[in-house]
Amino acid sequence: MKGRAVYIKTFGCQMNEHDSERILGILSSNGFTEVEEPKKADLIIFNTCAIREKAEHKFLSNLGRVKNLKKRKSNIKIVVAGCSAQLQGEKLLNKAPYIDYVLGPDNIHLIEKIVEQDLSNKIHIEENPLIAKIKFPILRKDPIKAWINIIYGCNNFCSYCVVPYTRGRERSRSSKDIIEEIKLLGENGYKEVTLLGQNVNSYKDDDIDFPRLLEAIDKINGIERIRFVTSHPKDLSINLIKAMRDCSKVCEHIHLPLQAGSNKILKLMNRKYSYEEYREKIELLREYIPKISITSDIIVGFPQETDEDFQKTMQALEEIQFDGIFAFKFSPRPLTAASRLSGTVSESVKSDRLSEVLRFQDSITESKNKKLEGQVEEVLVEEKDEEDFYIGRTRTNKIVKIKDRLNIGEIVKTQIIKGNRHTLEGKIFAS
Ligand code: SAH
Ligand code: SF4
Ligand code: F3S
Repeated sequence: MKGRAVYIKTFGCQMNEHDSERILGILSSNGFTEVEEPKKADLIIFNTCAIREKAEHKFLSNLGRVKNLKKRKSNIKIVVAGCSAQLQGEKLLNKAPYIDYVLGPDNIHLIEKIVEQDLSNKIHIEENPLIAKIKFPILRKDPIKAWINIIYGCNNFCSYCVVPYTRGRERSRSSKDIIEEIKLLGENGYKEVTLLGQNVNSYKDDDIDFPRLLEAIDKINGIERIRFVTSHPKDLSINLIKAMRDCSKVCEHIHLPLQAGSNKILKLMNRKYSYEEYREKIELLREYIPKISITSDIIVGFPQETDEDFQKTMQALEEIQFDGIFAFKFSPRPLTAASRLSGTVSESVKSDRLSEVLRFQDSITESKNKKLEGQVEEVLVEEKDEEDFYIGRTRTNKIVKIKDRLNIGEIVKTQIIKGNRHTLEGKIFAS
């Protein structure tokens, strides 16, 4: 049957956003078009996230809103996919019996069977060792930048984190498939690729590890910029730093989650590095790649985090001078070791610590952005905003607004005229 409509709402990380592009890829080859409102759809998909309680709540309130639609139009199908689907499984169906299918991240390819109407079981959360071998059709939203999954799952079991339970064990895609996919993107006008994995440093396909994969991608015509997320600090090797330095297309930016500045907390988090080891890696990165920008993730209010521990996180921010951070209040998650720890930190202390961290980092980010005033940066123009500004990013991943007339997809030498807290303003640099 042709001409059906799908509404898809995605929660969570880039991995999930990309999974939605794959789901839409399958659906568009089956005659579906995307609509912006659930009430116009024949198929409603929630691609969910379970990383913090708040993410699950957001999804549940969205789910509640489509319950009545299903009553009015019983042939609508409701599919819950992603990490919360994997984690909650049957519980979701008990809570919301109007859900038609529950698909974990390893089973999103089954959407094809759902629309062909030959999938009898409602719940599909079994681990799929072959997911990394599937070649998905992909409906990419952006014509310039593309996400490429290189490794599925995670083996790290950081004690707070639910991902190893929602995305299973690590499985790398073949380098041949990855390179083929990126070559095609280069031929089709894409300028930037972001390689995705929970821990890209663990990538392995026979003798091709992550640094070697970067070297191979660096040679692909058309692609101008290579980025990747996320690196685990314990696995950041000197070989990777050298590959970042030597591959001209690999951008001068790394997202390297620190999580906490106290060694006691890092140990409780099962992060497998000390603050001192983390600092050494930062120094190496800055020695080999002087222009590099470094961003990070911070968790506040982890169980047993005292004021003194928290001050070590603040001190780390002061010492390291990140270009930006994402900070979160610890949220206990099902199945994780940290959810069973004693020494819970109260909600009000968590909130205070979160605002303290964010306020302090904002001042650092702002003063770093101010220092860029007058500098010339290469900007890839990505879009135009409502105020007719062109918006792009520097290689160091900073957002720049430019008033001059430009073309989307072009790379322009830009002089930074103003550094604000969250963005930069620039103009074309006439040399
Ligand atoms: N694989 C990536 C991304 C993990 S999720 C990595 O290892 O960095 C992104 C961020 O969410 C984590 O870095 C962490 O800071 C945060 N996070 C994960 N679980 C959390 C929890 N239970 N409570 C609060 N923040 C959490
Ligand atoms: Fe979670 Fe740690 Fe794996 Fe990242 S490395 S996904 S934080 S378990
Ligand atoms: Fe991503 Fe959320 Fe899953 S952050 S891996 S969608 S739990």
